[in-house]
This record gives sequence, structure tokens and C-alpha cells, in this order.
Amino acid sequence: MFDRMGPTYDLVNRVSSFGFCELWRYQCVRHAQIQPGAVVCDLMAGSGECWPYLRYRKVSKIIAVDFSPVMVRRQQLRSKRVDLLIDIRKENATKMSLPSHSVDCVVGAFGLKTLSDESLSAFAQEIRRVLKTGGRFSLFEISNADRWFFGALYRWYVASFIPQIGRIFLGDIECYRMLGVYTQSFGSCERVSPIFERAGLKVEVHHHFFGCATALVGINP
Ligand SMILES: C[S@@+](CC[C@H](N)C(=O)[O-])C[C@H]1O[C@@H](n2cnc3c(N)ncnc32)[C@H](O)[C@@H]1O
Repeated sequence: MFDRMGPTYDLVNRVSSFGFCELWRYQCVRHAQIQPGAVVCDLMAGSGECWPYLRYRKVSKIIAVDFSPVMVRRQQLRSKRVDLLIDIRKENATKMSLPSHSVDCVVGAFGLKTLSDESLSAFAQEIRRVLKTGGRFSLFEISNADRWFFGALYRWYVASFIPQIGRIFLGDIECYRMLGVYTQSFGSCERVSPIFERAGLKVEVHHHFFGCATALVGINP
């Protein structure tokens, strides 16, 4: 699915979210409270959409993990255009080759929704393993806005309207329709936070724009 979406993902994302995706990436990185010189792991990094915000934080190195060959190729192209040290790893974020306790911070925007609860558990354990003690993580995801008056309209927009935008740009309605399906079954970071607590992480949930997106933020105690 992500290989097919790769070439249009950035554009469809920006158009369909009215630019909110960029604000939310900025907030995802901000929640991580990254110090200058930090080594940061960008999990499910896509084509490196979070990197401009990490660059602004003056990180010393980004380790980008994504398993889609198309997204990784786009990362390689992007990495040539930015003055950042980037270690690109084409691998599964639920089973990484990174050494234990090797990164200061973990960020991840919009990658949680396609993980099953079992994969989320493996993912949380990997975050616990690779983070240094006291290291922070921040994960962001589109959510169901269950408690918002216009929540039903928003969910309809994600499930039915975004696929139409995908059809215009990609000529393929199915993979963007699946994103809506995944978003609905994901629910929100509130639903999945116990999975991260069970992995031994300290977790809090932040709501953004009436719960249209939620963030799972915490530390490796
Ligand atoms: C919706 S995109 C998000 C990309 C980017 N982080 C952003 O801010 O837009 C989700 C990405 O997660 C990747 N992904 C999903 N599951 C993964 C897994 N288990 N391991 C590694 N990458 C994964 C996909 O290949 C895709 O590039």
C-alpha cells in the first residue's frame, strides 16, 4: 500500500489535511523536547516528512526507519538535499537492527494506524529497547475525534472524501480508502496507550484540534 502511495503521498497529505499535517509533524517533534546534538530515530519515516522539524532542533543524527522500498528511495533523494547526517534503514520498525539504548529520542508521525495491537506491542518494546534511559518519544496519529461535535463529519471526510482526492492524484481510490479504514480501527492514541505502558514506558496522551489527531508522548523511565 505504501509503495503505491509513495509518489503522491506528500501532496495528497497536504491537500487533504489543508496543511494540518505539517502543523502536526511540527507538534510531534516539539513534544519530544529534543536537545541540540541529540541522536533521533524517526520511525515509520515515510519519505522523511519530519526531517525539516528535526533539522530545526539541531539534531546530530537522524536514524530513519521504514520498510517501504519506495519511501526509502524517496528518503535517499531527500537526504541529498538536506545538510543532515541521516542513517536510512529499510526495515520493520517492530524488529529493528539498532543496538539497545542507542538513541536519545524517538519520533514517529502517522505510522501507528496500520499496526495491529500485537504489532503495536512489539513496536512499543522496540522503542523501550532502543531508547536510552530517560529518553523521550513522541508518536502522532490521525484519530477519530469521538468527543467532538463535528467528529462524525470529520470521520466521513477521512473515510470517504480523502479517497476521492487520492483517486484524482493517484488514479487509485483503494489505498487511500484503506487509510480511512485503518484510522477508524485505530481509534486514538488513548486506546493504544496501555500497550505502551505494558512495555514499561511512561506515557501521556495529548489531543490536537478537537481530537482529530492525538499524540502519545513519554519517556523510557
Ligand atoms: C502514513 S506514512 C507516514 C510517513 C511520515 N512519517 C509522515 O510524517 O507522513 C506511514 C509510513 O510507515 C511505514 N510503515 C508502516 N508500518 C511499518 C513497519 N512495521 N515498519 C517500518 N515502516 C512501516 C510505511 O511504509 C509508511 O512509509
